[in-house]
Amino acid sequence: MTPEFDGPTTAIVIFGASGDLTHRKLIPALFSQFQKGRLPENFLVVGSSRSEYSHEEFRETLRGGVLDLAGMDCPEDEWGSFAERIYYLDGNIKDLEDYRKIDSFLKDLEGDPANRLYYLATAPVLFPTILEMLGEADMVQEARGWRRVVVEKPFGEDLESARRLNEIIHSVFNEDQVYRIDHYLGKETAQNILYFRFLNTIFEPIWNRNQISHVQITVAEDVDVGHRAGYYDGAGVVRDMFQNHLLQLLTLVAMEPPASFNADAVRTEKVKVLRAIRPLEPADSVRAQYEGYLEEEGVKENSHTATFATIKLYIDNWRWKGVPFYLRSGKALMEKSSEIVIEFEPPPHVMFPLPEGYKLTPNFISICIQPDEGIHLRFETKVPDSQQGTRSVDMDFHFRDSFGEEPLPDAYERLLLDALIGDPSLFTRSDEIEAAWGLIDPLLKEWEKNSEVSPVHTYERGSWGPDQADEFIQGDGFTWRMGCEH
Ligand code: BG6
Repeated sequence: MTPEFDGPTTAIVIFGASGDLTHRKLIPALFSQFQKGRLPENFLVVGSSRSEYSHEEFRETLRGGVLDLAGMDCPEDEWGSFAERIYYLDGNIKDLEDYRKIDSFLKDLEGDPANRLYYLATAPVLFPTILEMLGEADMVQEARGWRRVVVEKPFGEDLESARRLNEIIHSVFNEDQVYRIDHYLGKETAQNILYFRFLNTIFEPIWNRNQISHVQITVAEDVDVGHRAGYYDGAGVVRDMFQNHLLQLLTLVAMEPPASFNADAVRTEKVKVLRAIRPLEPADSVRAQYEGYLEEEGVKENSHTATFATIKLYIDNWRWKGVPFYLRSGKALMEKSSEIVIEFEPPPHVMFPLPEGYKLTPNFISICIQPDEGIHLRFETKVPDSQQGTRSVDMDFHFRDSFGEEPLPDAYERLLLDALIGDPSLFTRSDEIEAAWGLIDPLLKEWEKNSEVSPVHTYERGSWGPDQADEFIQGDGFTWRMGCEH
């Protein structure tokens, strides 16, 4: 659906405009939406950061990002019409005068009335300052057009800092003006989880503790921490991936259907899931570092930071009581792949004489988030022309087969457009963020003080993590499944 934007100018103001995110994600996403004719007719982009660029130099570096980082085509005429709406102003984030300069620059370009989307793409330590300065410079009031703010992740580094950040945000903006990004929610395959569950009738009756034995959520990455070691060593995999992306995927799998697909109804159901999760136990977790992590530049000596973790959790409600959810994520693993596995109970009685040593695989559904985007159902079948032979086979859905080879749009395309339209469904609400931190925080604190219950194991680069993660799930009688194409 192409949204209808009427009249006034809409300005997208990016703080941290010289950074990687702007070049790799934001501008390519905006350019792609521009090419599809989905941006407001009168849009403009104003970037700001400390570096000094002329407007033209800035446009050129962005073009480099579109070509080299996002790997997109950049036809000259289309880029030209897009880029002429991009401007740059250098400024010091901590200087109120520079906000006034941006404001008056914008006012000259925008006319009146005008809408504004502020995008915080800086280092997170600067978020509070920018928010407060926007308030002080009187840049958030909505008398003449809407004002919204997109806040990048990480949103806080623990519950307390997340709360403080929410307080600062709320001292300047109303919650309905705030868009906290979790780009996993913008992935088509993540959005599709709710369509799969609630636009079909055959899955929902079995989507509960009576039929499902357990759920696995894996977000694996083949890259290591690379040049981000400075940030990563302070964060670790649980803050970097679990508190946001993995828990968000979990809420989509586990939530109840709201009566309508509106932002508050959806987010309320997600919060209910997070609040029903039993406090996490260190004994229900495995943490590890890849070999060589301690030698990475920027990593503290003897760092205990986990680059891999597995966490088992339970959702104490009627639908899920007793069903374990296994979450795992790590860097420097064998490949980049994200997959959710819903495994069903085995048959209560097997009447066929199975071949000696044959291990029956319970049915499972794989929701493949990336890179093999689709859904697969594993089930047992008789081997033709055999007496009693059986084998596991797959029923497959691939987005590419049904919708063409074109890659699915990047998550930022959808999220930026939603922020412009004013639909926060795919953004996290303040209570959601705090509920997620409320779960993760105590576990991290326990990890800090108790390395006996959860020692930091090591794993080989290019593996699927430490052996202990396999033993952990096997101890419960399960095994990590891989139903997506690898
Ligand atoms: C980011 C994390 O939020 O997500 C990164 O900070 C991680 O460490 C990235 O690499 C993974 O996102 P994606 O979309 O590549 O799976």
